[in-house]
Formats: sequence, C-alpha cells, structure tokens
Amino acid sequence: MHSKNRSVVIVGAGFGGIAAAIALKKHGYENFMILEKAFDVGGTWRENKYPGCTSDVSIHYYSLSTDLKDDWDHTCEFAYNIHAYTKDIVAKNNLTSHILFGVKVISATWDATSQSYTITTEDVRSQKLSVLEANIVISAHGILHVPRYPNIPGLNDFSGPIMHTAKWDTNLDLRGKKIAVIGNGGSACQLVPYVAKTEGVQLTHFVRTRNWILPAMVAPIHRYWKWAFRHIPFLTRLFRWTMFWVFEASFYLIFKMATTRAFLMKAGKKFMNDTAPKKYRGLLEPSFPLGCRRIVFDSGYLASLHRPNVDLKEGGDIVSVDSTGIIMKTGEKLPFDVIACGTGFVTDKFPYHLRGRESTIQEFYDKHDGPLAYLGTTVPGFPNFFMINGPNTATGYTSLLHIMQLVKPILDNEVTSFEVTPKANDDYNKGLQSKLNDMVFSFCSSWYRAGHNGRNVSIFPGSALQFWWACRKIDWSHYVAVGPNAAKFSNSGLGFVPILSAVVLSASMLWWTLGN
Ligand SMILES: Cc1cc2nc3c(=O)[nH]c(=O)nc-3n(C[C@H](O)[C@H](O)[C@H](O)COP(=O)(O)OP(=O)(O)OC[C@H]3O[C@@H](n4cnc5c(N)ncnc54)[C@H](O)[C@@H]3O)c2cc1C
Ligand SMILES: NC(=O)c1ccc[n+]([C@@H]2O[C@H](COP(=O)([O-])OP(=O)(O)OC[C@H]3O[C@@H](n4cnc5c(N)ncnc54)[C@H](OP(=O)(O)O)[C@@H]3O)[C@@H](O)[C@H]2O)c1
Repeated sequence: MHSKNRSVVIVGAGFGGIAAAIALKKHGYENFMILEKAFDVGGTWRENKYPGCTSDVSIHYYSLSTDLKDDWDHTCEFAYNIHAYTKDIVAKNNLTSHILFGVKVISATWDATSQSYTITTEDVRSQKLSVLEANIVISAHGILHVPRYPNIPGLNDFSGPIMHTAKWDTNLDLRGKKIAVIGNGGSACQLVPYVAKTEGVQLTHFVRTRNWILPAMVAPIHRYWKWAFRHIPFLTRLFRWTMFWVFEASFYLIFKMATTRAFLMKAGKKFMNDTAPKKYRGLLEPSFPLGCRRIVFDSGYLASLHRPNVDLKEGGDIVSVDSTGIIMKTGEKLPFDVIACGTGFVTDKFPYHLRGRESTIQEFYDKHDGPLAYLGTTVPGFPNFFMINGPNTATGYTSLLHIMQLVKPILDNEVTSFEVTPKANDDYNKGLQSKLNDMVFSFCSSWYRAGHNGRNVSIFPGSALQFWWACRKIDWSHYVAVGPNAAKFSNSGLGFVPILSAVVLSASMLWWTLGN
C-alpha cells in the first residue's frame, strides 16, 4: 500500500526532474513536489536562448521514451522547440500542480530521528525563506547550469554588455555592433554563424584550446517524414530505436576502437581543412584525440569564417579587458561594443547546502577531489538522497531505474531510509576511474574533469546500454536499510532463485525494448 505521508522533493524541473516525476506517477506515488527556482520548466532548454542553440543528438532519441513526439521540425532540434516539448509533457502528465515555481532550494539537512530532510527554500521574488520536510530528495539540479565567466583581468570594467550564452539577452539589438565571442565549445560555435548574419555586425571569435569540429546532423524534417511518423504505427519508436543503436555504435567507434578513431580523426581533419579558410588552420587544428572533449558539431561555424565580417583570433593571447575592449599580448587593443562569453559552466560545485549524517556534500566532494557518487546516484553519508545526471553519468537518465527501486520500499513504508555503503562507493569508483584512465579523456583538459585537469567526474566509461545494465538491478548488500523490514533488503533476504532472476531480466529487457 502506498504511503500518504512519506514525501519526495525533486529539485529542478528540467528533463531530469520531469522524468523523475513521471516515473513516480507511473508507480502510483502522488506525494511529491518539484521545487524549481525559475518560473518555467525546461532547464537547459529554457535557459539557453542564444541564437542557433540546438541539440547535437537526434531529437527522436533526445526525448523521453514515455512521451514520443511525431512532429519534430528538425533532426537535431532547436532549443525553443525542445523547451515547448518539456512544457507539453508536463501538461500531458498532469505535473503542473506538483511544481512550485520561483522556489530555490537553499539547503537540505538530514535528520536521523525523523528519517527525513529539512529543506530550506527561498522565494526568489520576495527572498522570504520557508522550511519544509521530505523523506526523500531527488536532485535534478543540472550540471550545465551555472554559467562560468572567463577570469580575464578587467572584465568587469567593460562598459558594454557582457553576455553569456546561457544568459542571452534576446532583446539586445546587435545590428551594426562590434562583438567579441570568447570560447569555442558547442555553445560559441553554434552562436557564431547566427550572429555573423546580423546586419552590419563585425564579429571577432577568440579561440584558445582547439576543438574537434565534425559535420552536424541538423536538417529540417520533410513533411512526408512527419506524416509517416504520425500515421505509421511504431515508426517513431522504431526510428528512435535505430538512433539509439547508432549512438551506441558511435561509442565504440570513437571511444573504444583506436583504428576507427584514427580514421574518424583523419576524416574530421579533412572536413575542417576543406570547410574553413586556409589562413585559420593553425587556429583550428586540435592537439588531442577525438572524443577527449565533447565533439563540436558544425552547424555552419566553419563556413561562417569565410565571411568578411568574421575574424578569428588566438584566445590565449587575451591579456585583459578595459572599458572599451580587449587588450592582446602584443599590446594591440581591440575595441568592442559587446562581449559574448561561450565559456561554459561551473561543473564541479554542488549548488546548494546539502548536509547528510556527518558532513555537507561539498565537503564530501572536496575530500574526494571532486564530485563522486555510486552509480552517479547515491552518496555514502546521505541517506534517501538521489541524483539524476550526477557524477560520471554522462550517458542518459538510466539512473532513474536504480532510484525507483530504492524509492519504492521507502514510500511503501517497508523501510525508512537507504544509504549506500562507503565500500560499495569506493569499489565502484575505483573500477570506474581505472577504466577511464585507459580511455581518451585524460589526454586534454575539459569540463569533464574536476578543475578541468583533475579526476574525470562526468563521464561513464561505457555505453548507455552498459550504464542501463549497471543500474537495472540493485545489489542490496551495497545499501544499509533502516526501518521495519530492513532485513528484507539484503542479498540473502530476497533469496532470488536463478530462474526468477532470468524471468525478471527477460521481462525488463522486453520492457526496455518497447520503452525505448
Ligand atoms: C547549450 C546546451 C546544449 C546541450 N545539448 C545537449 C544535447 O544535444 N544532448 C545531450 O544529451 N545533452 C545536451 N546538453 C546537456 C543538458 O544539460 C542535458 O541533456 C539535460 O537537459 C539536463 O537536464 P537536467 O534536468 O539534468 O538539468 P537542467 O536542464 O540543467 O535543469 C536543472 C533545473 O534545476 C533548477 N535548479 C537548479 N538549482 C536549483 C535550486 N537550488 N533550487 C531549485 N531549482 C534549481 C534549474 O533552474 C533548472 O531548471 C546540453 C547542454 C547545454 C548547456
Ligand atoms: N547540443 C549542442 O550542440 C551543445 C551546444 C552547447 C553546449 N552543449 C553542451 O554543453 C557543454 C558546454 O559547452 P560550452 O560551449 O557552453 O562550454 P565549454 O565546452 O566548456 O567551452 C568553454 C569554452 O570557453 C573557453 N574559455 C574559457 N575561459 C576562457 C578564457 N579566459 N579565455 C579564452 N577562452 C576561454 C574554453 O577554452 P579552453 O578550453 O581553452 O578553456 C572553451 O573553448 C558541451 O560540452 C556540451 O555538452 C551542447
């Protein structure tokens, strides 16, 4: 029987929070709230309003298996359409009444006596603080959310607008302006070709570390295809399924097999040389293997470098900024009206004050030189706390499978809490890091690593299928349960016979096949 009293708080209403809420509802649990500091759902896709922002993954794959959409406009979709989709699925799944908007989580503190978290929130308009309690916290606060500005001396003295791709002012009229774009990751490279087309704009792009840039897969979806997706049963699901396998294959081709990676690097280099102006080759050619950083997919960036109003400069030569522009190592002073920072996000700090049994999560992270969790989901010392898109989960939301298996017994009053053991966490992370050390990620600095050069805190060293496999079934000996039926949640307590395991496994494979 489902408990009326046991409650869940979900932090964030991006894809992660929405998916968690849908999963809870699907299992019949209604006693949950999503706390969202903004006034709308959508997370990443609400925030990133810079011109040209699209997904770089096939949109039929980059959407929820529970809510397929037949009429996407583009193969990789624009942010505004993905944002609209998140709003649609919230309405369709009756989640609106579960969301508190404009409510920022400031802290959450575990109370062992009540077996619950005391959560302090701030009303972002009035700054008024409130307190609520929840037995479970599912944190879907996002990792690419807090903008990182470049630490260039004098930046704050600049008299014109300083924009970040994730805080884009869509009302700013760029016509006739001199604009500097700093950074050449996915965000800046999507932005440049769009801004370059603005009337009278003069754009200078500053590139520091060179990235691999491969052809993008963004194309309009023909109306015949839309018709087919809408009218032919299972076609959308079949297409999604095909995309899933294409992305699974690309994991092996890029990250696992050195020969195919070498071939793709050769082809990528040719693409970059053939598409960009010859004079910029030195400023574009990466010095690390493909896949070490997130690959940039070219939605017109390299071709835009041929435009007379676009100039490419060495980002490493920026010395400082003054009120009128950027000063270079040579002493050259470049005047600008606007500085646009495509300089990424703060990825290694926990965004609110979470206190577990003994310490805060930030103290735990600092002690381990960066974010760390068991299956990217649970953390020793933090009972009933679950993360979506947590450390080393860069593959998808498969961690929800793991979370639901732990959440159900709590909400069904069988136990009051689960906490992952330090040993399970240590063993898991030792294995994970030793696999990552053999992969391409250690050959360059990137946001995948703590402080950009430390331990890899973002990537799961396997494919999405392998992450699903790791999450699909709980090893209860990795958890300490508290509560009336705690003994049931140990390996021996469940006493699975092999035949039963095989049946469960086959059923979940079938469910997964249909669900993806
Ligand atoms: C420009 C851009 C493009 C991307 N493209 C892709 C792509 O093509 N494919 C891909 O797989 N991934 C892509 N990503 C990664 C993307 O962030 C994830 O795929 C996914 O959208 C993250 O969802 P999320 O719910 O985990 O986090 P988010 O979407 O970041 O949502 C987090 C939510 O939590 C809220 N929040 C945060 N802190 C608090 C707090 N203290 N209190 C209350 N609310 C809080 C935020 O306001 C936000 O709404 C992209 C990221 C960026 C920045
Ligand atoms: N769907 C998509 O296509 C898409 C689009 C955008 C973003 N994303 C996702 O979001 C992630 C973040 O992308 P992002 O482009 O926002 O950030 P990013 O990949 O972290 O890139 C930040 C860029 O800013 C540069 N930079 C930072 N400080 C600088 C300084 N002081 N001077 C000069 N350059 C500086 C960095 O150069 P250095 O490397 O030299 O530090 C880097 O080129 C991506 O990896 C991807 O996962 C996806």
